[in-house]
Amino acid sequence: MNLLITGGAGFIGSNFVHYWREVHPADRLVVLDALTYAGNRSSLPQEDANFLFVHGDIRDRALVGKLLNDHHISVLAHFAAESHVDRSIHSPETFLDTNITGTLRLLEAAREYVASGAAPEGFRFHHVSTDEVYGSLGPEDPAFEETTPYAPNSPYAASKAASDHLVRAWHHTYGLPVTITNCSNNYGPYHFPEKLIPLMLVNILHGRPLPVYGDGMNVRDWLYVTDHCRGIEGAIRHGTPGEVYNIGGNNERPNKEIIRTLCTLIVEEFAAHPDLARRFPACPAADGRDPFGLVTHVTDRPGHDRRYAINAEKARRELGYEPKESLASGLKKTVRWYLENETWWKAVMDGSYQNWIASHYGDGAAS
Ligand code: NAD
Ligand code: TYD
Repeated sequence: MNLLITGGAGFIGSNFVHYWREVHPADRLVVLDALTYAGNRSSLPQEDANFLFVHGDIRDRALVGKLLNDHHISVLAHFAAESHVDRSIHSPETFLDTNITGTLRLLEAAREYVASGAAPEGFRFHHVSTDEVYGSLGPEDPAFEETTPYAPNSPYAASKAASDHLVRAWHHTYGLPVTITNCSNNYGPYHFPEKLIPLMLVNILHGRPLPVYGDGMNVRDWLYVTDHCRGIEGAIRHGTPGEVYNIGGNNERPNKEIIRTLCTLIVEEFAAHPDLARRFPACPAADGRDPFGLVTHVTDRPGHDRRYAINAEKARRELGYEPKESLASGLKKTVRWYLENETWWKAVMDGSYQNWIASHYGDGAAS
């Protein structure tokens, strides 16, 4: 099978490439990625007979059409997006361009590909989306189901909701064979250090303040990225065209608890590996102190959603999906990965990253 993976140089897309190559080594993968600040070529394998990287934009319909035809694509897995809520609050327009217009162009290229008769039997357009389209939950509300009405609150969530509606409409109107997955907060390797978990890890290691929005009691359902990749694989292989599947991790936790756990794991790693104190001398754990003291409460995110929770029963029933990773095991793997891959995260924290941190948090908060 030949897959076209948009946004494959980003966090989830690159993990999906590594996952798919491991479980389906005979398949051929073509990644299309614009390499924005969030995309990193170094997160992906070198090119070989079964892996091709194309530097390009999903809004370039002619390019997408050419890739679909030239590589006789069976599955278009769509990950490419602007994905950070805080950035969407600063600059919403880029989010609408990439997430809405970009998805529209892909859908149109796929529609033409199918209509021309060039697409293989069983062609699938799989759209990767988020639980944020469903809005915010109160403490006692039931978890999001696939039938929960859309109520996006941030520019990011609104742009993803719009893209989901386009994908649905292209199925309903044109019969394009699509599936959609809406997942909770992912974490794991190759996660850009602007999102909660990698940002906190990098700041802990440098002894910098840990900027917690509001009271730190906002709840997210944390999903280890490889579990998400298995869920997407299930939707592509066993999902019914036109259907939506929620993918979650069964790990609802307040932000402060996540930070508490990361600090504990770092202290344990420093105790077990004395070289870490030499590599990261500014980390409080280097001289036996608890990094949790670095927590600094900062101004809350405007419109900050209080709680997300996923009911993944439909994916379990229809796709056989079950998350394998517990939060404890997933966070431990993640901490180890960041300790072992300092070269990767140092390289991605370039000038544009420093500018974002300084403009969003101010020089004193996290720089
Ligand atoms: P990311 O920001 O890490 O990566 C996005 C990738 O898309 C980058 O490689 C970037 O270069 C690429 N890209 C951006 N604009 C492009 C364009 N115009 N053309 C081609 N490539 C472009 O995002 P992620 O965290 O890997 O998220 C992947 C998908 O999963 C997104 O659709 C996101 O909305 C969704 N999602 C993410 C999470 C999460 O926790 N990270 C949760 C739910 C849903
Ligand atoms: P984030 O990783 O940006 O994901 P999302 O907003 O898509 O859920 O944020 C996760 C949670 O962590 C969210 O409640 C906001 C909070 N947060 C902070 O408290 N401080 C930070 O510096 C960041 C980036 C996030």
